[in-house]
Order: sequence, then C-alpha cells, then structure tokens
Amino acid sequence: MWGKLNRILERLVAPFRALFHTIFRGHYRLERYSLGLAFAIIIAGGIGGAVEIAPLFTIDETVEEAPDMRLYTPLEQVGRDIYIREGCYTCHSQMIRTLRDEVDRWGPYSRAVESQYDHPMLWGSKRTGPDLARVGGKYSDAWHVAHLYYPRDVVAESVMPAYRWLARRNADLDDLSARLETLRTVGVPYTDAQIENAVSDALAQVNPDGARAGGLIERYGEATNIRNFDGQPGNPTEMDAIVAYLQILGKLVDVETLDTESGQQE
Ligand code: HEC
Repeated sequence: MWGKLNRILERLVAPFRALFHTIFRGHYRLERYSLGLAFAIIIAGGIGGAVEIAPLFTIDETVEEAPDMRLYTPLEQVGRDIYIREGCYTCHSQMIRTLRDEVDRWGPYSRAVESQYDHPMLWGSKRTGPDLARVGGKYSDAWHVAHLYYPRDVVAESVMPAYRWLARRNADLDDLSARLETLRTVGVPYTDAQIENAVSDALAQVNPDGARAGGLIERYGEATNIRNFDGQPGNPTEMDAIVAYLQILGKLVDVETLDTESGQQE
C-alpha cells in the first residue's frame, strides 16, 4: 500500500521536479560566470526595488488633501517627544485599521494624511494598550493626569506603568525653535513666525488668560487647546506637554470632511 502511495506522490511532484531541476541547473551554470551572476543579481534586486518603489508614484492619490490640516503646536511637539522618550509606542499603536471591529471601537479608520507631518510616524505594531489615534477629546485633562500619575487609580485592572515624574519635571523648551526648524527641513510647513515664537507659544498654551494666547491662536488656529492641562500653576511641565499632545490625537484633520474616494477635501 505504501509503495502505491509513493508512486502516486512521485507522479504528482514529477512536473515540479523537472522545473526545479531546470532552474537549479541553470543557476549552477550561471554561478560559474561572475559577470553574468552579477547582472542576474542586479536584475533580481531591481525587480524587488521596483515593487517597493512603484507605490510611491501614486502617492499623490494615496494621501488625501487636507488644506486646513493643523500643525502640532510647540508644546504638543514636546509632548510627542516625551511620548517617544517614554516608549509609549511600545504598548500603543496610533493607526486604526479599516476593519469593522477597529472602527466600531475607536472611530473612523486612520487616513494617510493624518500622519503626513509625523516625524517619525508612531503607527506602532504592538497593542498592549488600546490604539490612541483618536484619543483626543475622549477624556478630560484631569483624567489623563490621574491616569498617567497612577493608572490603577482610574482603571483598576490596568497594567500600564505609572509616569509620576512627568508632573514634577519642567518641559524642556530650550531648543524648541531649532526643533521646529528641523521639522521644516523634512517637510512640515512651519512658518518663520511659528519658529521664532516657539518658546513663547509653548508658554502661552498653558496660560489661557495670558497676553500671548492670542498670538498662539493666530498662528495655530481657533481649535488650539489653550488650557492649564496639569492643573498646576506656572511653567509647563512634561505632564502639560504630554496631555496637550494626547488631546490633539485624531484632531489635526476633520476626518468626516475627508472624501477618501477622490482623495480631496470637500
Ligand atoms: C506596558 C504597556 C504600556 C505602556 C508602556 C504605556 N501604556 Fe498606556 N495603556 C496600557 C494599557 C494596558 C491600557 C488600558 C488600561 C488603562 O486604561 O490603563 C492603557 C491605556 C492608556 C490610555 C487610555 C486609552 C483609552 O482609550 O482608554 C492612554 C491615554 C494611555 N494609555 C497613554 C499612555 C502614554 C501617554 C504612555 C507613555 C507615557 C503609555 N500609555 C504607556 C499599556 C501601556
């Protein structure tokens, strides 16, 4: 019985064996000609490269246009840097996929344009905690402060670490102008005025009654959150910065007005 099965199997793989042998013999011969082999490697690598590069030619159609897209304010950029420094991305993704369960849970799926100015992007690939792409506005500032201070105070079963020191440390604003300028060199359209006023705009964002709040609104738009995020008086802490950043996630563009069929904003 085994012999019969073997013969059937052999007959099944026979055509493939012939193909394999032909390729194998051809390759064997090719390996003896270094120049020929080098060309073959270039061609094979070229095909792989073309497959990777090809989608870039359609990037204009892939990335929706959103002329009124907001830029991160200087304070939000500082918060973003803290998010990276503390490794929040190792537990949280920032990309809602086009799957029913994700859309039901977190809201409209992420559009390409929403991470257009993210350097580096923080899509992430690990979800120990929930996706944060649309967490902005979901909770109050006080909730975020309490949660970052000690997550189990607000979510009893949470396994997220506590980040108490964020409330104690002052946000590092020293090189803010240079940071925005660097972002401009990679394509984020910060204006000269935004770069020049980076530090004062960061200070203004936690001081709604201050004289400089008007300038911040002028440069970043009416929708800018100007609040004392951490509830503590004085200069912005790292807690202020990261909460400002969390509250803007998903709010840079109004996704509802993005018509993804044509890739244009209505
Ligand atoms: C070890 C993994 C881990 C790390 C690191 C981590 N988190 Fe979390 N996070 C979680 C888990 C798990 C939850 C869900 C339970 C909860 O709400 O605490 C969560 C929940 C959250 C939520 C609430 C999301 C929602 O929609 O309810 C926010 C906001 C958040 N994390 C922000 C952060 C920030 C900011 C950092 C970095 C400073 C961070 N997390 C680092 C695991 C993590």
